[in-house]
Order: sequence, then structure tokens, then C-alpha cells
Amino acid sequence: MHGGLIMDIWHIRGGRRLEGNLRVQGSKNASLPILAASVLCPLRCELLNVPRLSDTDAALRILEHLGCTVARDRDRVYIDSTTLSCSAVPHSLMAEMRSSVIFMGALLARCGEARLSLPGGCQLGKRPIDLHLAALRKLGADIEEDDNELHCRARRLQGTEIALPFPSVGATENALLAACGARGETLIRGAAREPEIAALADFLRAMGAEIRGAGSDTIRLTAFHPKRDLCFRIPSDRIAAATFACAAAGCGGDVTLCGLDPIQISAVLHFLNAAGCDIITFNHALRLRADRRLRAVGPVVTAPYPGFPTDAQPLLMAALLRAEGRSLIRETIFEQRFRQAPELCRLGAQIRVKGQTAEILGVRELHGAALHATDLRGGAAMILAGLAAGGETVVLDEGHVRRGYEDFDRSLESLGAEIILEN
Ligand code: EPZ
Repeated sequence: MHGGLIMDIWHIRGGRRLEGNLRVQGSKNASLPILAASVLCPLRCELLNVPRLSDTDAALRILEHLGCTVARDRDRVYIDSTTLSCSAVPHSLMAEMRSSVIFMGALLARCGEARLSLPGGCQLGKRPIDLHLAALRKLGADIEEDDNELHCRARRLQGTEIALPFPSVGATENALLAACGARGETLIRGAAREPEIAALADFLRAMGAEIRGAGSDTIRLTAFHPKRDLCFRIPSDRIAAATFACAAAGCGGDVTLCGLDPIQISAVLHFLNAAGCDIITFNHALRLRADRRLRAVGPVVTAPYPGFPTDAQPLLMAALLRAEGRSLIRETIFEQRFRQAPELCRLGAQIRVKGQTAEILGVRELHGAALHATDLRGGAAMILAGLAAGGETVVLDEGHVRRGYEDFDRSLESLGAEIILEN
């Protein structure tokens, strides 16, 4: 578990169909707030199905820095937060991932204080944390912002009603975590409805919180009677599932993904189906077959859950590069989430970006090229496009993809892809 400069070089020989079965990894975006939640009260917990990623490693390093005892055995993580001894996260650890800001609510609830710097993470345009700060202030926190440093204090957090003007995932999580340390009831209106919020609420319930409404836009936390021990299984990663579905759609193939909840990616499956993929869903699995040239789709408009996930937008874009006709994608969540597009054009793709809309004119063939990964999902999209392109593609990646995908090369290889990761 060490940080540092990373250069991953993905060598891909494209043009092969993808076939076979794959079990989807545990969810990155469910793991991160749950790891932060482990400090809410003195707790010994065992987490199962935690994906082995640089982002989860970064969260574990933060826990160790805070004085927790942490052990990992493959996808099992053991955390003892009874030994917590500090409420400050240094800049070097904060810079490793944006969701470290989630420690703010949890530390405030446990220690009445938290000191953090402003978070790092993907470069997707402006990513303010004003909604997080407003929610914590509403609960009674006093927050000083000074030179990229945040210092939060609260002698006593008090349950209240919080109305989020936008259903921010992170702000909903921070509000829920801080509310666990507050007296009285907290009501969050305008909450994010992403499955990761429901997963966090499940974990908090296992920890002793009384929470209703997670997964809807109104969440009510009535009480918190902390437990001392628990074991919890992280649910599967819906965006990783969407990634492999888009990979098979873009390359052609027949893949079965298991260990996921297909309902969580209905919006993605809807467009893959409209593009001509045959999809059968089961309770915890799906089979996707793509035997013909895809058809263009759109407009695909990203939106908060249950809308089309912004995280899957670059991946669907990669799948549509060779589709017949003109696809349209509109991004509404992040300002700069088409950074993969100019790189994909090096493979021969035709993408025109105007403001928040991307138009993809499907080409018959893509050819290999050297690309530079811009961010986590953008980097994954480049790998997917490389798999669908003839010849060799090389993706230079300063550690973006490993933030979110466990053994991405081996998973793709198990489906028949020719891919080698050099690092
Ligand atoms: C979460 O980020 C995910 N990260 C992101 O996953 C995902 O793209 C995003 O939700 C949207 O689904 C984790 O769960 C760790 P937001 P988060 O707060 O919580 C604006 C991936 O690839 N906003 O819902 O940061 C913000 O600028 C990643 O796995 C404010 O204006 O997302 C953005 O435009 C990257 N003020 C929008 O809301 C705030 O205080 C959505 O952000 C907070 C957010």
C-alpha cells in the first residue's frame, strides 16, 4: 500500500471478439464511503468483496494514518478503529483521491473535529464541495477554509433538515455520516439515489443506525446505537459491469457477467440493446451478445441515478465508435467529461464535441494508435476502443485505470482479449 508515481502502459492487439464468463468486482464507489464510515465509532469490522484498487488502498492508508489497525487479505479487509488517535488527514493522502473528502463527515461525528486539505481525484472540470460544507454546517459544524485547508469543528452536532439543491453523491454521503454523530433526527431531502447510497445506509444500519429511505430522494436517520463488531459484504460494481458490457458491444462477442444487479445498469443496457445487442438479464447476472454491426443511438443524456450514469458515458462512447449512423451524447453532470474524445479520434473515430454534446459518426474500421489516458473512465474507454481497433494500440496511463479496475488486463484477457499491462 504505497503511493508514488506510476506509469502503466497498456499494450492492446485489437480486433478479437470477446467471449466467456466474468465475475464483476466489488464496488469502488460503495467501498470508499464505507471505509470512511468505519471510523464513526470504535469498531472492529471485516469487509468482504473490497476491490483491490489504488483508490481503496489510498483509503486504507488514510485509516492507518488516523491510527486504525488495518489488514488486508485479497478482497477481505479488517479494520479496527478502536485505536483511532488523530482527526487530521495530510495533504499527500488527500491528494490521492477525491472521495477522501468523505472522511470529513465521519471524523467530525467521531472526534468533533476534522482537518483536511482540498481533495484530489479525476480531472473532470470544476468539482466543488460547497454542498458538502453547507450540509455539515447545517448540522452545526463550524468550518474554516484557509489556503486549501479545511478545519471543521463541532462541539455538538444537532440533527436537522438538510435540503440538497442537487443530488450530489458525495454530499449525501457526508451528510449521512455526520448525522450519525448528531443528536436527534436528520432528514435529507433532495438526496442522491445512487445504489452506493443504499449500500452505505446498509452498512450504517449494520453499525447500529436507524435509517429509512436510502435509495429515494428523502432519507431519514432517527438514531444511532453503535455496535462493536460487524462483517459486511460490499456489493458489486455497476460501472465495472457496464464497462465489460460496453467492451463486448464494441468488439462483438458473447459474454456473461455474474455477481451484479442488472437493474442498476438498466439505463446502459437500454442503449446497448437499442444499438443492436441481445441482452438477457437474470437476478444476479446478464448475458450480452453482439453479432452484427451496431446501430447508432441517442440522444444519450447523463443524469443522476436512475438516469444514464456519467461514469458510463465514455464507455458507451467507445462502444459506439463503429456503429452505423450518428450517435449523440449529452453530458450534464461534469463539465469536462469528453476528454477521451480527441484521443479516441487518433484511432480513426469521428467525434465532434460542441460544448456538452458529443456527436459520433460511426466509422467502419478503427486502427491502432498511441493514446494517453486522461482520467479513470476515459482511460478505460481508450482501452475498450483499442480492443475494437485493428492492429496495436498503446495506452499510456499515469495510474488512472488502476484507481477503479481490479486486474483489468486479466479480466479482459479471460474474455479473449489480447492485452498486456507493462508497469
Ligand atoms: C461520485 O462523485 C462518484 N465518486 C463519481 O465516480 C461519479 O462520477 C459521481 O458521483 C457522479 O455519479 C465516488 O462515488 C467516489 P457528485 P461525487 O457530488 O460524489 C457537483 C468514477 O469514475 N457538485 O454527485 O464527487 C459536481 O461538481 C467517479 O468512479 C457541486 O457542485 O459526485 C458535479 O458536477 C468519478 N458541489 C456534480 O455535482 C458539491 O458540493 C456531481 O457530483 C458537490 C458536487
